[in-house]
Amino acid sequence: MCGIVGYIGGKPAAPVLVDGLARLEYRGYDSAGVAVLGSGDIRVHKDAGRVRDLEASLPKRFGGKIGIGHTRWATHGGPTKDNAHPHLSADNTVAVVHNGIIDNAGALRAELEDAGVKLRSETDTEVIAHLVASGNGKLEDKVLQALRRIEGTYGIAVIDLEHPDRIVVARNGSPIILGVGEHEMHIASDAAALVRYTRQVVHLDDGEVATVRADGYHTFTADARTTTKTAETVEWSEEEYARGDHEHFMVKEIHEQPDAVQRCLRGRLDERFHTVHLGGLNMDAREAREIRRVKILGCGSAYYAGQIGAQFIEEVARIPADAEPASEFRYRNPVVERDTLYVAVSQSGETLDTLVAVQELKRKGGRVIGLVNVVGSSIAREVDGGIYLHAGPEVSVASTKALTNMAVAFAMLGIHLGRIRDVSPADGRRLIDGLKKLPEQIASVVAQEPVLAETAKRLAQHESLFFVGRTRGYPVAREGAQKFKEISYRHAEAYQSSELKHGPLALISPDVPTVAITPQDELLDRNIGALQEIAARSGPLYVVTHPGVEIPDLAAAEIVVPKNEPELDPILLTIPLQLLAYHAAVALGHDVDKPRNLAKSVTVE
Ligand code: F6R
Repeated sequence: MCGIVGYIGGKPAAPVLVDGLARLEYRGYDSAGVAVLGSGDIRVHKDAGRVRDLEASLPKRFGGKIGIGHTRWATHGGPTKDNAHPHLSADNTVAVVHNGIIDNAGALRAELEDAGVKLRSETDTEVIAHLVASGNGKLEDKVLQALRRIEGTYGIAVIDLEHPDRIVVARNGSPIILGVGEHEMHIASDAAALVRYTRQVVHLDDGEVATVRADGYHTFTADARTTTKTAETVEWSEEEYARGDHEHFMVKEIHEQPDAVQRCLRGRLDERFHTVHLGGLNMDAREAREIRRVKILGCGSAYYAGQIGAQFIEEVARIPADAEPASEFRYRNPVVERDTLYVAVSQSGETLDTLVAVQELKRKGGRVIGLVNVVGSSIAREVDGGIYLHAGPEVSVASTKALTNMAVAFAMLGIHLGRIRDVSPADGRRLIDGLKKLPEQIASVVAQEPVLAETAKRLAQHESLFFVGRTRGYPVAREGAQKFKEISYRHAEAYQSSELKHGPLALISPDVPTVAITPQDELLDRNIGALQEIAARSGPLYVVTHPGVEIPDLAAAEIVVPKNEPELDPILLTIPLQLLAYHAAVALGHDVDKPRNLAKSVTVE
């Protein structure tokens, strides 16, 4: 979704800004723009469409060593040139870029219009530019005066002709990161935009404001109290954000999974006591033993990974556990219990629904940990402790390696909670050995890509598909359907195999194939029964199963993945579904990394 960049230093700003915007493209956007502070004026160049078009059409004279830029995902007003950021004040002395939503924009717009200001866009952001320009004092004072009038969420960056030596930024609910360079400073809403220039970053907290000059920064609060911030090192490098030889980020990230899982496990497995070390949980064994329930909250695919996690924790640690979409939880005034462990799961750490659910829990005194990929992200900063996923940067909108690492992290959490309860050393060892096998087993599934690509082509011919699974296999089916629909745009519906006969069997026909998760486990007979029900209605079958499973003669195509421990099998069963979705989308000619209507991190209501 929306992205912010800023630069102040010795170089021409425009190329640095445009480069930063290109690195934020993966988040999804519909328009883009930059503003530079030159000698005597602020020049703005913006338009609907792609960053590369913006770059190609940059005016020749666009000098200036201070600037801000933005990629916009339309909320207030359509994706037009006028609505694109940066927005200028009426007298063209102040330019603003903004992420977030100003709730009282309507009232402020009316007030400005009554005062004779001619608004040039339909956005909520524009009011900020006018309010700042009408303030008094230094730019910092003018920004603080404007922020006092604003209700809502924001990450903003502001430049002012009267103060051509600084950019002022502020954060309330939308991330702002400062990048500390050599005699230059960068600003971004996502580290992806600035790791090329510096890996030393400062994350602003909500309520913080900063003055950024070429030689450094000063952070303070709305009541002008200085805050002390030290720079941290971003663990991800520029190369990790690159697509390399792969045609799409999604397939690159699918291939990265063996290494990503290895990183997630590194230093956490305790082979002596057959358990795991999760130092970041900030919870001692006695506190962990007091947990009576686990509630997992995430959105979309992260929620499905949470369902895999809930089943693992309940099965292994014998603690009642369930997962719920954070987007629902936040709106239903949930009962928050003292002895429940709440777990927020998110790749980006910025998903607004999950973040608000965490904030609601904390307000009610709940204990919340995070399973988050992006270090220093909003959710990571909000929770009481957690497990970083270490999947590396995930650029593809369709999440793959982060989800796999979520499931691995849940397994580690389950083993930890189980081993301080009744899980025996032998069972602990069995599961730790299973985790250790995962990277190699995932690699062997990914190696089946050529065959899976052919299968995907066949699936792509159908307008509508079912994905079915039972108990441990059900969240796998849900994630498989989710991945398939979001990039192939085919109707893919997940169902419990057990529920087929209670309704969806009516839709089974030769036109509607079913991808059936059929592991070698205690429910194999029941799952084969479901396959027979589908075959009897002439439904084409694609069975994801384990070596040695005898599927009766049902003319089914088989996809065989290596067997692990039953509790860990869902992690491996998910991998071929990623490749089916990817190759179906490629076969249909879709832009896999930019699926229609979707953004990488969903930071709006
Ligand atoms: C699907 C997908 C989304 C995300 C969801 C949560 O492939 O990527 O469903 O899983 O928007 O995002 P995070 O994990 O960043 O909170």
